[in-house]
Amino acid sequence: MTDVVLREDSGRVAVLTVNRPDKLNALSQGVRDEMLAHLEAIAADDAIGVVVVTGAGEKSFIAGADIGEFAGRSPFDQRAAMASPRIFDAMATFPKPVIAMINGFCLGGGCELAMSCDLRIAADTARFGQPEIKLGLIPGGGGTQRLPRLVGMGHAMRLILSGDMIPAAEAKEIGLVELVVPAAELREKTLELAGRIAAMSPLTLKVAKESLRASERLPIEEGLLYERDLFSLCFSTEDMKEGVAAFLEKRKPEWQGR
Ligand code: COA
Repeated sequence: MTDVVLREDSGRVAVLTVNRPDKLNALSQGVRDEMLAHLEAIAADDAIGVVVVTGAGEKSFIAGADIGEFAGRSPFDQRAAMASPRIFDAMATFPKPVIAMINGFCLGGGCELAMSCDLRIAADTARFGQPEIKLGLIPGGGGTQRLPRLVGMGHAMRLILSGDMIPAAEAKEIGLVELVVPAAELREKTLELAGRIAAMSPLTLKVAKESLRASERLPIEEGLLYERDLFSLCFSTEDMKEGVAAFLEKRKPEWQGR
């Protein structure tokens, strides 16, 4: 590994920082490879309950795919570069919650990466957009699929067809981010929420995320059945027995992850 994605642990939270601030943290192949390697290690690391993804510096979260890598590429080269596993799907299906901590420009593949995370917290200075149209491209990291699911078809059309950038307050208003905080408090507020989530049973977090993600692909009747099965499956875990016992005994639960 080089150092284009840094990992720093804070309690049960691992913070992954895309570290190319001179290129506004553009997603190069190297960044994608390192991100996947970190995720693989964190998936197997019982000491970590939640992942936070952010960008180095104060200017940019991720300003999209590295446009320099597009020049001179054939369709076959591009297809190979987009071969699985892709970071977007890796985030969405990661067995632990992933939070995007958006500290600045959140554009193109950066916005798509944020949308692949389980929730998004933005600095009030952050800016959002899918500017691919200005390059003669369309979003290729899930933008045409995940954006309308988050913000509705009309806003997705507006953003993708115009390439316009919107400020954090507007991103919150349309549902692209869940929380907006003053830039100076972004890290503290994000780590506080991430820490509270990471204190839950890792097993139950995994099941909750799986059930929520299933709602993106299943019709409602099947989704409700799936949820009922997963809910019932929780009755087989030691953590469910512990959670219920701790409530009844008026004490804090001690999760085993089993
Ligand atoms: N890919 C590669 N390099 C990028 C990049 C990207 N997506 N976004 C920014 N950079 C580089 C710039 O080329 C510049 O590098 P240089 O100093 O070696 O010339 C550096 O990052 C700083 O960017 P700059 O454009 O000078 O900053 P700015 O504040 O004037 O503008 C943006 C900021 C975000 C508006 C502008 O960088 C931009 O439009 N970036 C591309 C966004 C985009 O289209 N993303 C989708 C890609 S599919």
